[in-house]
Formats: sequence, C-alpha cells, structure tokens
Amino acid sequence: MAKMWAGRTDGVTSKIADDFNSSISFDSRMFRQDIKGSMAHASMLGACGIIEKTEAEKIIDTLGDILADIESGKLEISKDAEDIHMFIEEVLTERIGDIGKKLHTARSRNDQVALDFRLYLNDETEIIVNKLKDLISEIADKAEEYKTAVMPGYTHLQRAQPITFSHHLLAYAMMFLRDIDRLTDCKKRICVSPIGSCALAGTTYPTDRQFEAEKLGLDSICQNSIDGVSDRDFAVEFLSSLAQIMMHLSRFSEEIVLWSSWEFKFVELSDAFTTGSSIMPQKKNPDMAELVRGKTGRVYGDLIALLTTLKGLPLAYNKDMQEDKESVFDALDTVKASLDVFCGMISEMKANTENMANAAKTGFINATDLADYIVGKGLPFRSAYKISGEIVAFCIKNGFVLETLPLEKYKEYGDFFEESVYFALDLKNCVKRRISEGGTGFESVEKQIDWVRKRI
Ligand code: ARG
Repeated sequence: MAKMWAGRTDGVTSKIADDFNSSISFDSRMFRQDIKGSMAHASMLGACGIIEKTEAEKIIDTLGDILADIESGKLEISKDAEDIHMFIEEVLTERIGDIGKKLHTARSRNDQVALDFRLYLNDETEIIVNKLKDLISEIADKAEEYKTAVMPGYTHLQRAQPITFSHHLLAYAMMFLRDIDRLTDCKKRICVSPIGSCALAGTTYPTDRQFEAEKLGLDSICQNSIDGVSDRDFAVEFLSSLAQIMMHLSRFSEEIVLWSSWEFKFVELSDAFTTGSSIMPQKKNPDMAELVRGKTGRVYGDLIALLTTLKGLPLAYNKDMQEDKESVFDALDTVKASLDVFCGMISEMKANTENMANAAKTGFINATDLADYIVGKGLPFRSAYKISGEIVAFCIKNGFVLETLPLEKYKEYGDFFEESVYFALDLKNCVKRRISEGGTGFESVEKQIDWVRKRI
C-alpha cells in the first residue's frame, strides 16, 4: 500500500525498508499522548479559524472514539503502520474522510513526535515519583523499626564507628528524595511545548501556539522552532535522572547482598524475594538485589546510547532521532520494575540486630570515643588520638577490646582515666552522644525520620 506521504515518490517501499524504518513496535505506547496532542491541535486549528469549528469538533470526537476503542481493545494498533502518529491519522481519515485529512495542517511529525515524547515523559515522571515515594516510605518504616539497633558504620569497608541501622537506611531515603527533586526539576524542561514548530521553520498559518500549550497543560512553548524539533535535552536529562536512581538502588543492592551473606548475616530477606540454587540445597540467594545491580549497567548504557545518537546530529530533525525512544523506554521499564521489587524486598527484610551488635563489639569502633573521652580530660585531640591508637594496639596484641581492658592498664596511659571510661565506651552511649545534626544520635535519627516523612 502507498504511504500517506506518497507524492514526490510513489510511496511504495520495500518490505525490508519498511520494517527497518518502522517505529510502531515501540512508539505505540504513546498512543494516549498522540491523541491528546492531536485533540489540542484540532482545537487550536478551529479556534484560529484555520479549519471550521465544526470540523475541529468532529476530529476531536472521533479521536475520543479512537482512544476509547484502543483502550477497550476494539481497535488493535496495526503492526504494519509506520509509527503511532501515522496510524492514528490513518484511522481518523478512514472514519471521517477529508475532514480527518485536515488535522495535519500547521504541524509536522517532527514537532508532533517531540510533543508526544514530552507528554509521555511527563506522565511517567509522575509514576516514578510515586514509586520513589513508596520506597522512601518503606525505608522510613524500617528506620522506625530499627531505631535502637546499633551496628558498625564502615569506611573502606572497615568497621569505623558505631551507628544505628536506622541511620544507615535513612541515608538511602535522602538519595531517593534527591532523585525526586531531580525528576521534578527536569519536568520544567519537559513541559515546554514544541508543537507549532512544524517541520522546522514554523508555519504560514495564523496558529496560536500558546493556546495549544495551555490546552495540553504545558507551562510554555519552545521559543525557536528549529530547537523545538531538534531538542532532546529533556530526554537526556530524564534518562540521566533514571541512571542516578539505578546507581542508588545498585549501591543499596550491594549492601543487601553483603548483609545477607553468611559473613555478615545482618539481614534476612524474605523467602518471597530470594531464590534457591538448583544444586546447592543450603542456598538462599539475593537474586533481586543482584539483578537490580546488574540492570544498572543496562540503564547507564541507555543513557550513553542516547547521548551518542545525538552527538554530531545536524539541525533540525534527522531520522536518527527515532532512536531516542527505545533507550528511554527501556530505562523507564527497568527503573519501574526495580523500584517495585525493591519496595517489596525492603518491606519484608528483617534485621538481625544481635549480629549487628556483635559485629559492633569487635573492631574498636569506639576508638574515636576513647579519644573524645581523653579530650574531655583536657588533652588536645591529636595527643588524645595518639594515646588511643597506642591503647588499641596494646589491646589487639593482648586479646582485649577497649571495654575489657582493666582500668589499671588505662591508667598507665594517663592518670586521668577513671571508671567513667567504660560508660564513654559503651556503644549505645557512643551513639547517643553523636548529637550533631544529621548524626547517628537517637534523637537526631528520630528527626531525620520525621523530615523524610514530611517530604513524601
Ligand atoms: N517515527 C518518527 C520518530 O520517532 C516520527 C517522526 C518522523 N519524521 C520524519 N520527518 N520522518 O522520530
């Protein structure tokens, strides 16, 4: 069959070329946005007297029917169509003839696809933000549950200082809150209307782009028609926000994999979010966390693919740009699935607080507190640090930890040592004393939980 754009050519292309050229297999998911865009366009054409108002109404009504028919399954999107824009227009024309053919006045597929893509990403932003909120809420609940669970905090993956599990979890809530901020900020650049840019140069018709943007609920219009059809910055930015979400999920995954290992045994994942081995009967594998970590590479790849597609493209539209959607859609699907699985996994995850406490007891994570204790006795921090280091070295050599070293021994390092040193070294007290804002102190963590909850 000849294409709608037959004219200059006979519009008959080879099957191989058709298949290669077609984007319907992936852009059909934008059918709602395409119809919404076309409704606004018809309405603008009618309002500006470019087509009759009655014609505009007919187009809008029929587009409404098409939407309903696709949604109900009555109308199947044809796999043979070139893309979703052509498909909808073809059905419209089939249903109302010449009036349908007027819809494409004062627009081009170049501004149409840019608009649909923006509308789609705007809708998806909402969905992802809500999923992030769900996850943050699960994290806040876990943080609440494990407010008093002391564990070692790490630097270089070496035991560093005592913290609470709650405090550690909340660090992730902060990351996901920033992800929401980033996506919300990106919306400012997504919600700009390119429609009316037409092929690239604007149009001879007396259009009202502002009217059309308002109909679509968009904040403003692209100020340069060439930029309007060429700009995919919003998609890069959106994809980069998705890549950061995956980076955060991946770091979290890595810790969950570590924590659920026999070596750590800090957490127990529920059976529903683990798998067994086909050969080793003892296995309970954290596959979900590993897969999320693995899929992060794929989303980074999507970002690089888009950046690379855009690099070196001359203005304005080039068919290369059709490649923009698959990477973004793949990243979107991956992020949504990852957030869903994480939400479930975290909500059912249990902490083994005893193992955490035991790990905290060895490793001298209260050595900084010992130094602070000595500072409290009037010594400068650097001197206190040196004495503490020497005490730690003695303990390691002689099989003590700071809590079990006798007071007489402490006194050999300074006659200011008193019984109170043991109180200062008690891990719960170490945590309690970290009263600085954002610190691991119990009250500070309580405040962080409130702060996080208020933001979602
Ligand atoms: N399917 C195309 C895309 O996704 C639509 C735009 C086609 N424009 C054109 N001049 N061929 O980019």
